[in-house]
Amino acid sequence: MADSLLTTTDETSSPIELVPTSEFETWQAERSPLALSWLLKNEFTAKSGQTIWLPDDEGNPYSVAVGWNGDDDLATLGGLPYGLPAGVYHLTSSVTELQVLGWALGAYRFDRYKSNEKEPAQLLISDEYDAERLNNAEAAITLTRDLINTPAGDMLPTALAEEAQQVADANGASCRITVGDDLLEQNFNAIHAVGRASVDAPRLIDIGWGREDDPLVILVGKGVCFDSGGLDIKSAAGMRTMKKDMGGAAHVLGLAQLIMAERLPIRLRVLVPAVENAIAGNAYRPGDVLQTRNGITVEIDNTDAEGRLVLCDALALAAEDQPELIIDFSTLTGSARSAVGAEISAMFCNNDDVAQDIYRAGVEQDDPVWRLPLHQPYTHMLESKIADTVNSASSPYGGAITAALFLQKFIAAIDWVHFDIMAFNNRHRPGRPAGGEAMGVRAVFAYLLGRYGS
Ligand code: BES
Ligand code: MN
Ligand code: ZN
Repeated sequence: MADSLLTTTDETSSPIELVPTSEFETWQAERSPLALSWLLKNEFTAKSGQTIWLPDDEGNPYSVAVGWNGDDDLATLGGLPYGLPAGVYHLTSSVTELQVLGWALGAYRFDRYKSNEKEPAQLLISDEYDAERLNNAEAAITLTRDLINTPAGDMLPTALAEEAQQVADANGASCRITVGDDLLEQNFNAIHAVGRASVDAPRLIDIGWGREDDPLVILVGKGVCFDSGGLDIKSAAGMRTMKKDMGGAAHVLGLAQLIMAERLPIRLRVLVPAVENAIAGNAYRPGDVLQTRNGITVEIDNTDAEGRLVLCDALALAAEDQPELIIDFSTLTGSARSAVGAEISAMFCNNDDVAQDIYRAGVEQDDPVWRLPLHQPYTHMLESKIADTVNSASSPYGGAITAALFLQKFIAAIDWVHFDIMAFNNRHRPGRPAGGEAMGVRAVFAYLLGRYGS
């Protein structure tokens, strides 16, 4: 059980009452004269997230009132674990599972290098909630956040592969890892080219789980453990946040852990090309031509467009398996962030029904997703004079789209969803602490549950 959610406790717990902002006047009118004076002195107006202790008949602090805007979202309770004094609490009225999850996600702290100054408040939940499912969701998102927050120095391909191995082992899944020059032998030249200049050898992680006769779904995650830009080196500001460039890998490992813990009746395969885009004498260069897995030759226009290169070999391998669905998560372009900002996940999809259902799941899960078009006429921007394609378009306009169009060359006619994500909260919000974040994971899991769940 997550530390922040309890199903049993020896302590007496303090009641929490949610007060909808719109009902504040009526609610206030029903308070005792003593409580009313506390409310007035503290200027409590039931604004969303506002909290206040209220007294019992003897005038001692007894219960907590929390303002609530009426939305069913992560933020409802997400500010409370660190907004209230440590201790055990319970709710006086029913909320949704998403709102309880918001409490658990709001209790997250990345404490690998700095101990938590304050213990989070704990919520005692009744058996009306599915504690195991909440725990699984919280554990999956915690894993994703921890992997992203861990700096590259401690999360190079070897470490990322060890994390993947652990996820596989804990769930009875298989895990094959192809390392270094073996990538060349097995025809993953693009993954090798991008990762070969690092002190830590590039590798392809391949997790398998589930029953042979269940429908096959393949998850692919961009695992660039650090993106210096390569020889087309990034600016200091551009490089500063690039420990998160394995965010896609962190997403698919978290999602896979959730799928396996919830025993979704699918056959799951998870592919993570894990590399560091580093600079050394043997680094790949602008102008080089790579022979990729499915035979397409790629002229390197820019070594900083490395994500699509490691993904193209992994996507080609995924397509060979003829799955029902391929879903990739990638911190692929700055352009996607210009398009939809840092708090919405950009989604591309070659199947309108799948796209619509994932969009709706995102709304329900408070996990916003917005679809961008695979606008085929833009493929002309990927033309090369000497190879089948370049890796980076001739024009910066529509950069997220041209990146997605590049990937699409490698997935054949298979249903495919591509997420170009931020994987990071630039600012703190209730339930969404600053730092590494899972984006689109709850939407996709809810979609898969709707499609395959029994
Ligand atoms: N990892 C970056 C994309 C990125 C940048 C994600 C900032 C989130 C925040 C990716 O490898 C990259 O460098 N993309 C380039 C592509 C360009 C060279 C065509 C970009 O977006 O600028
Ligand atoms: Mn890059
Ligand atoms: Zn990158």
